[in-house]
Parts: sequence; C-alpha cells; structure tokens
Amino acid sequence: MAPFLVPILLLLLALALLIRAARRPALRALPPGPKGLPLLGNLFQVPSTLLWVKLIEWSKVYGPIYSYTLLWQPIIVLTRLRDASALLDRLSAKTSDRPRLIKLSEHMCRGRQFGVIPRNDLWKRYRRAAHESLNVRAAQNYWRMQEEEARILLDGLINHPEIEAAKHLQRESSSIAWRALFGHMTIPLEGPDPSEPMEEFIHESFRAVVPGSSIVDVFPFLNLLITRSKVLRSESDKFYEKAAAFFTESFSEPQTATALKWFLLAMILYPETAAPARAELERVVGDRPPSFADMDRLPQIEAMVKEVLRWRPPAAAGLAHMATEDIVYEEYLIPKGAILFPLAWSICRDPSVYPNGETFDPSRFIDSAGNVKSPLPRTHEDYLAFGHGRRICVGKSLAINSLSISIAHLLWAFDFQKGVDEHGAEVTPDPMAFLDNGATVYPKPFPVKFVPRISGLADRLKAVLSK
Ligand code: HEM
Repeated sequence: MAPFLVPILLLLLALALLIRAARRPALRALPPGPKGLPLLGNLFQVPSTLLWVKLIEWSKVYGPIYSYTLLWQPIIVLTRLRDASALLDRLSAKTSDRPRLIKLSEHMCRGRQFGVIPRNDLWKRYRRAAHESLNVRAAQNYWRMQEEEARILLDGLINHPEIEAAKHLQRESSSIAWRALFGHMTIPLEGPDPSEPMEEFIHESFRAVVPGSSIVDVFPFLNLLITRSKVLRSESDKFYEKAAAFFTESFSEPQTATALKWFLLAMILYPETAAPARAELERVVGDRPPSFADMDRLPQIEAMVKEVLRWRPPAAAGLAHMATEDIVYEEYLIPKGAILFPLAWSICRDPSVYPNGETFDPSRFIDSAGNVKSPLPRTHEDYLAFGHGRRICVGKSLAINSLSISIAHLLWAFDFQKGVDEHGAEVTPDPMAFLDNGATVYPKPFPVKFVPRISGLADRLKAVLSK
C-alpha cells in the first residue's frame, strides 16, 4: 500500500465521522406543531384564557406530542401518559426546572415562591421542609382538624342554605390550608375572612403562572426597563409586600375547593354513581359521621376521589416544567430550555389507561371483589392530577385526605339535587362550562339543593362538634 494512502484513508474516515456527527442533530427536530409567524411563532394563536382547550385542539391535529413557539421559546405539549412519564418522571433529573416567569417569580415573588422558582438551592430547601411536614405519615397529624372542618362544612350547609355551596367549600379548603400551613384557628363562614389576602395572592399568582401570560414574559428584554422603573414595578411591588406578610405555599387550597366543586357537579349529572359509596357508608359508619379510622373500609370513597381528580384535574393544563439539557426523545430533540407542558386534562383521559375517559365512572377503580384496583404502572397511584417528577405536588397527601373526608361526609349526609335559578327553574349544570384563572379550571357556578339523608343530622353534628 502506498505510504500516503493510510493518512488519506484516516482523514476521509475522520471527515465522514465529522459529517455524521454534524448531521445528527439536524435529523432530530422539535416535535411537529402549528405553523407560526417568522420570529413571533404562534404568539397570536395562543388564547389568553382556557389555553388548555386550544392545546387539546392542537393535539388532535398534530399528534400526542407536539410543539409550538412563543417568539424563540419552544413549548412541547405532552398529552399521553407514556411521554409524560418518560420525560418528566424517568428523566426528571433533566426536566424538573421551571420556565423563567419574570413577572410572577421575579417581580411579584422576588424569587421566593416555591412552586415557580428554578431548581436551585432554595427550592431544594423548600422541598425538603415541605416534604417533612406534608408526607403521607406527617399528613396524618391533620386528620382530626380535617374531620372537624368536614363537619363544620356540613353544619354550614344545613344552617346557611342561603349561602352558595361554592362559598362553603371555599371556606373549608381555605380553613384547612390556614390551619395546616399557619397553625391558625378555623375560618368562620360569616364575618371577616382572615385568609382573604392569601386568597388574593393565590388568585393573582395563578393568573401569572402560564408562560407568556404577561408582556415581560413574552418580551424579556422589557425587564431591563421594568426593573429600573418604580412606576412600572409598582403593582408587583405592592403585591410582593402583601404576599411577604402572608407567605404561603400556594397551589393549595383553590385546587382542593375546585375538586369539590367538580365532585358536586358530577353528583348532579351522574347521581347513580353515588349509590355504591352510600351503600358502603351505610354499612360501615351508619348514622354517625365518617372518620379517617373508617377509610380502609371505604374503597368506594377512594375510587370517588380518584375519579373526580381524573375526570376534572383542577390544574387542567398541568404546570410547566423546563428541560435543563438537550434530550433526544424518540425521533425528536427536546432542546435545553424548552418548556414541557404535561397536559393533565388529556393525560388523565389517556385511552390506553382510562378508556371512556369522558365519562364520570368511579367504578373504573374498583375490582370484582369490591376493592380499589392496583394502579397501573407510572400512574402515580392513579393520581395523575398532581403532576410529575421532582416537581410533583408536595401537598398531595394533605389534599387527598381533605377530599376523602369531605366527600365521605357529603355523601353520608346529603342527597344532591338540582338547584333552581332566580326564576325558580331547575338548573342542569353544563360540565363543559369552565372558568379559568390560569392554573385552575373550575365549573361555572351552579345551584345545588342539599337534602339531608340522616334523621336529626343537625343535632348529630352539633354533638360531635361540641366534643
Ligand atoms: C386537589 C388538590 C391539588 C392539586 C390537584 C394539586 C396539583 C398540583 C400540580 C399539578 C402541581 C405541579 C406539579 C408539576 O409541576 O408537575 C402542584 C405543585 C405544587 N403543589 Fe399542589 N395540588 C393540590 C393541592 C396542594 C396542597 C393542599 C398543597 C400544600 C399544602 C400544594 C402545594 C404544592 C406546591 C408547593 C407545589 C409546587 C412544588 C414544586 O414546584 O416543587 N398543593 N400541585
């Protein structure tokens, strides 16, 4: 072989390898998605409310995993359990960051709001502390308080039918958060609500939690101007001062109250689904109020809670995660910095896991022996509404306990009937009439009539409440 041939062959080989390496990323692209405008991307196609409805619509056109862009920011939407689990659970080391939310995280909360801060040391400290006080075992410390609150809820519904049901549910959920997170006293139904600033804080932050929901998040270069201008910052500054006095692990109480509103709506539209749970309550607790000590013998209540959260996940769009490294996933490239949206609404009705997902049917979680079915792998015990990976909801156990004890009490105490409007006409609530505050999707208000099922209900409650 001619002596110059070897270096030439080596050179050609190196060149071929280089070309292959250079080509590889080009073979991988973002998942497909709606065509946008040059530079602006899909900015003008994204609605300011009910974003998740648009995202579902797009998934029907572009497939279960697709992408869109807001200016140069790629957003990848995950609508199947398989993809959400692979990317957010299995690869959670690379996908547990949050997107930069300049208005909410940096201005309104000055980098201290647990749920939206980046995956930094402060977040790790928050997460450890929250886990210590809210894990499955620790959550048992709140059982007595949650039982008491469920009974106060019933007492309010009996004695104040003139107050709409949503307000009763709101009071109960706020009061549980107020007592568990701050150690305060129960919030009364009437009179000044001491948690009101917390409510305002949560509602304002929920509005700002959607990526691209504020002008500075769409055009980050404006941040320079805003940080230098007291006038432009004044609203965020005011918000921060109020919030600092009421620092709270948000994402909590509105979601629980929302789930209870959806529960009532399901009971109105699918009244037959309450029968197995009621039969079980009659057998296990009879005419005394239920308690956490009964829960092991109330699988129908567990199934009901799972189904309410599956049918109407309160955070319908899920909460955005962000990739901290390039990820090659199947034929796609998920670039570092891409936002990942686990679309809870779709994931919770993934037909490969929950067939007939549009129908409210708690029996899907019950096996032939009447026990709760073993959950399928990767479904987080069939509680996909609480998100994924290292960012999964830290308040999950507290929330499940609140819902279980409240739903058990409501089913034990009342039959639910359609309420009437101001003209006395019966109202059938529309299950697809939504209100949306960014992070939470709740039903449009609807009237409910609560008909006691237990004789002497008010006195029975009074007796247990005065103990
Ligand atoms: C039915 C009630 C609730 C639902 C459906 C819910 C749902 C969620 C979801 C979807 C996330 C985002 C998960 C992700 O990024 O993948 C989240 C995060 C969070 N939740 Fe909940 N949640 C509920 C109740 C609560 C309660 C009662 C608390 C506090 C006591 C709480 C505290 C938090 C916190 C602090 C985060 C942020 C965690 C982090 O970023 O590391 N949540 N929740």
